[in-house]
Amino acid sequence: MTERTLLIIKPDAIQRGLIGSIISRIERKGLKIIALKMMMLTDDYVDKLYDIHIDKVFYPLLNSFIISGPLVAIAIQGKNCVKIVRKLAGATNSPDAEPGTIRGDYGIDLTKNIVHSSDKPERALYELSVLFKEEDYVSFDLINQPWVE
Ligand code: CMP
Repeated sequence: MTERTLLIIKPDAIQRGLIGSIISRIERKGLKIIALKMMMLTDDYVDKLYDIHIDKVFYPLLNSFIISGPLVAIAIQGKNCVKIVRKLAGATNSPDAEPGTIRGDYGIDLTKNIVHSSDKPERALYELSVLFKEEDYVSFDLINQPWVE
């Protein structure tokens, strides 16, 4: 199956009116969005989404931030999309993120770091399964970019 990844526009970015700017970067790059939804997560969803961080000292802060407001979850599909979206997002710690990346342009914090993106294809499928059902995905071609799977 073609690679898929998850990008989350976090509550800080929603509050700052950055949804459009972030989605526009995905589109301009030529990536294909196959599902998108705005939602408020509950504790147990955040525990599933960030299961690998649950024992870390920063987890309570991360959890309370993620449930603090709505977020936008975006499923993206295409060759190498995990790596491409990670590059677009920039370094996790916003002060380390290069200008030109999403966090480099909009973020100044580690917890409130604007977006989340999956770090590996297998991890992406797991994280997507927490937030989307298989029937949420739309199958279509980008007619001006036949090379996008
Ligand atoms: P994200 O890409 O969503 O993945 C896990 C999140 O934990 C990360 O972005 C940060 O927002 C947050 N976080 C907070 N503290 C740390 C830390 N010390 N190391 C890594 N991630 C952290």
